[in-house]
Amino acid sequence: QRESIDQFEKWLSNKQRTAVTPFNSPIKTKEILDIPVVFHVIHRGENLGTGTNLPDEKIIEQLQILNEDFRKLNDDQILTPLEFLDVATDTEINFVLAKQDSEGLPSQGITRQQGSQNTYNRSEEEILYAENYWPSENYLNIYIADLEDYLGWATFPFSDLEGNIEINNNRLLDGVAIDYKWLGINENTGSFNSYGRTLTHEIGHYFGLRHLWGNQQNCSTDDYCLDTPNQSTSYSGECPTETAISCGTSDMYSNYMNYTDDACMNIFTQNQKERMHVVLNHSPRRNTLPQSPALDNPIITLNDLGIKTIIATQLNDCNGFLLPKVVVRNYGTNVIENFIISFFLNDTLIEIIDITGRYQPIAIDTIDFQAISLDNLVDPVLNFRIGLVNQTEDGNQNNNLLSVSFSNKITKSL
Ligand code: ARG
Ligand code: ZN
Ligand code: CA
Repeated sequence: QRESIDQFEKWLSNKQRTAVTPFNSPIKTKEILDIPVVFHVIHRGENLGTGTNLPDEKIIEQLQILNEDFRKLNDDQILTPLEFLDVATDTEINFVLAKQDSEGLPSQGITRQQGSQNTYNRSEEEILYAENYWPSENYLNIYIADLEDYLGWATFPFSDLEGNIEINNNRLLDGVAIDYKWLGINENTGSFNSYGRTLTHEIGHYFGLRHLWGNQQNCSTDDYCLDTPNQSTSYSGECPTETAISCGTSDMYSNYMNYTDDACMNIFTQNQKERMHVVLNHSPRRNTLPQSPALDNPIITLNDLGIKTIIATQLNDCNGFLLPKVVVRNYGTNVIENFIISFFLNDTLIEIIDITGRYQPIAIDTIDFQAISLDNLVDPVLNFRIGLVNQTEDGNQNNNLLSVSFSNKITKSL
């Protein structure tokens, strides 16, 4: 049901051809793209650090492996066969734990949540991702859980093809899942030892990489990378040490995008890097990641009230009345004793409210505004703005303005 391989590959090769990125220019300066990551530990209610409720250290260990693999800092790159050394590359992609959540509150980039199920299979992706989801425009969501039938899986990126009908281009289902036993180093995983390469592999998919064997046991399906020779097998459960020929060429069995054992994977190539950078420059919910506010330290100031959400309930009659409410939160370190908040319909001031109360840091309150009629308005916009806080200027203006727009469907009373 998703975008076809043909559509995606046509888009990608076209972008690659017209790329302004300097992959082929002689003077190469490294431009590292930082990717903000949030790990969601979806556990079974065990104590922190036990069972499926993996400790922070395990996540840090995995993050370090990711960065070694993507930046070609892995110790085992000496195992890459000589004939592939010239295409082996630093992908210039670096993973960083999110420093703030989507509200701007400080974060360590790790969340913990008891799951609604003990285990999850591939068809329960929607349930797993709904356990905890951060906006995929600004975060790479990684779900750690007990997966029934996979070591891990990932959402492929979407192209921004013009005129393309976006079937299943679902922001809520964008992310990566990994079985808790395959996170980081674990030498008792069964079929082979985990050295954290399952996540390296899955994130390769998340940035648009395909399996080297093209998912077919023949020689005619490609991964669309010229510098990875066609091969006819996946090397599942294998760890070759000598030249292995298929399809008339030597196979790059140690590429991260094979099913080779973790201990025997050690290379991304130039073309794979190029694909990932095209995706990172152009794909929706990929091209926004390197600019994500999650990469910056949160703003911590004394007086900081912010608008968390707007709730605009339509009154249950047919004359288009709307009852706006705004949820505000104290994001600062001072207790807030008063603040001013104003409400505009389009550009017209409707109401200014002066609130007195006692709001501890992090406290939330809901402010009611007067009911308004949206009758005969074309695409009305409701704007809310925070004014003075504790009789001084609010120290963080980033969260002071929020609007909600209505397409004219609810404003027609005829
Ligand atoms: N999606 C694949 C699976 O679940 C991941 C395989 C990763 N391979 C590896 N050697 N770590 O089977
Ligand atoms: Zn795969
Ligand atoms: Ca503020």
